[in-house]
Amino acid sequence: MSLLLNRNSFGKEVNKGNVISKNEALQLLNDWVLNDKLRLHMLQVAYLMKSWADEKEQLNEKDQWRWEMAGLLHDADWDQWPEQHCQKIISELEKSNIDPEILHAIASHGPSHFGVEPETQMDKMLYAFDELSGLIHAYSLIRPDGYTGMELKGVKKRLKEKSFAANVSREEIQDACERAGLSIDEVIQFIIQHQADVKL
Ligand SMILES: [Fe+2]
Repeated sequence: MSLLLNRNSFGKEVNKGNVISKNEALQLLNDWVLNDKLRLHMLQVAYLMKSWADEKEQLNEKDQWRWEMAGLLHDADWDQWPEQHCQKIISELEKSNIDPEILHAIASHGPSHFGVEPETQMDKMLYAFDELSGLIHAYSLIRPDGYTGMELKGVKKRLKEKSFAANVSREEIQDACERAGLSIDEVIQFIIQHQADVKL
């Protein structure tokens, strides 16, 4: 099954800055994603994106929401339409005249799957958070205290253990952090500090 998008341009330049409201995005998420685990993953990635835009990029609230929205909807079609993953949510958001930068971030969150290279910092952070967030959440579930007291070295140990969260690609994590110009440690620390706050 190929998920290649076979294009590199998404949405229209004239729609730059266009977003939907948070309520509308959550409505779409709830309608499309029936699986609680996947919904939580998207809320987690959304919160990481918003927090990073705020704390590290010092972006204003409107731009923070653009980052958050990309996180919130990046896997929206994975649950019910895995064979149309990425393509379906992008065409839905194109119909709603959404900001092309948000569409590009969604389209490039897995370059080896969709064939679209991350370009902006928003693209790169979505790619970096996606896999690492999942691995760290899986780690929290096997710890008696969840996220409480979680340390970088524990996460690094799990990262080295190929059988742990085996579906999480270590190569993609490495590649994503390199592209973002960040150390894996920095991204892990950020996730540990923020992810526990997210609940379904
Ligand atoms: Fe994801």
